[in-house]
Amino acid sequence: MRRRVFALIAAGLSFAAMAAERPVAGVTPVAMELPIPQSMPLRMQRPIPPAALKQGSAFTSEANRALQADEFANPGMLWVTRGEKLWNEPAGSAGKSCAACHGDAAQSMKGAATRYPRIDPGAARLVNLSERINLCRERNQAAAPYQPESDELLGLSAFVTYQSRGLPMNVTIDPQNARDFERGRDRFYRRMGQMNLACAQCHDRNWDRTLLFEKISQGHPTGFPIYRQEWQTMGSLQRRLRACYSGLRAQMPEYGARELVELELFLAWRANGLPIEAPAVRR
Ligand code: HEC
Ligand code: HEC
Repeated sequence: MRRRVFALIAAGLSFAAMAAERPVAGVTPVAMELPIPQSMPLRMQRPIPPAALKQGSAFTSEANRALQADEFANPGMLWVTRGEKLWNEPAGSAGKSCAACHGDAAQSMKGAATRYPRIDPGAARLVNLSERINLCRERNQAAAPYQPESDELLGLSAFVTYQSRGLPMNVTIDPQNARDFERGRDRFYRRMGQMNLACAQCHDRNWDRTLLFEKISQGHPTGFPIYRQEWQTMGSLQRRLRACYSGLRAQMPEYGARELVELELFLAWRANGLPIEAPAVRR
């Protein structure tokens, strides 16, 4: 029974995920078949409709956008190059390079970043792209995983994500990841920290307003890893999320915390259809 209800909810979720592209009316009939509150499919409405989705760079200065677009000047490209080098280097006690198994990344990794975070069958949990890369380090190269925010991990994740530049985000919500999705979604709408604000208050309702000399964007994950001038280096989405937690004076989750990966899944779904612009440049 519980299984069945869960499957129904999940079916409703994936249906709603598709229907979110259409008006609310398309969702209602399913709501009536589901043993859950009417509001459920409404909860699956994309807060920012696909036609209004904007890249983070749309809220940065013109000079910043020019820097991002110039592949020779974009500082994030240094990490892409670094990642490409690592891709071809044998590593670990298996002595295998990423390329030994995956060949040309332009083909094998094209589109991969658009589908993360996703459930990894082997690990039986939701993983983001960096964690997926580290799983290959451990399982397939018999090497130690890279540290969060290390140049190696940022490099490989920038290189792999770069193979999807311009491709639209495309995560699916299904029975396997529905619970993670719900937790990420709840977090996005829950007030937190001494500022008592939710992510949604800035990124759903007040985007395009200026906060401390910076325009608030719609909070999409499509530019990551990013080169942030304030950091003077590259940083992952988790680093940015931790910065938002810290801005709210909320307890910062550790790198790799489930809470962050669940939030990443919600953000990825919320950005579905928006093209990847990594490596992005931010002030
Ligand atoms: C008080 C307003 C505020 C709140 C609340 C807030 N942020 Fe942010 N966030 C910002 C500002 C300002 C930036 C930097 C400018 C930008 O890119 O939006 C930012 C940046 C981001 C970015 C990077 C966007 C990009 O393209 O570089 C993401 C993703 C993000 N926030 C997600 C979140 C999440 C998830 C939460 C809740 C845990 C949250 N934010 C809470 C203000 C806020
Ligand atoms: C010994 C072979 C092998 C090596 C070496 C290897 N991988 Fe993998 N990798 C795999 C296999 C097999 C899968 C698919 C796993 C599965 O089916 O779940 C995979 C999956 C992936 C994925 C997920 C792709 C997707 O579309 O979801 C990424 C990203 C990845 N590897 C990156 C890397 C990187 C980066 C390296 C080097 C640090 C590397 N791999 C080294 C075999 C390898």
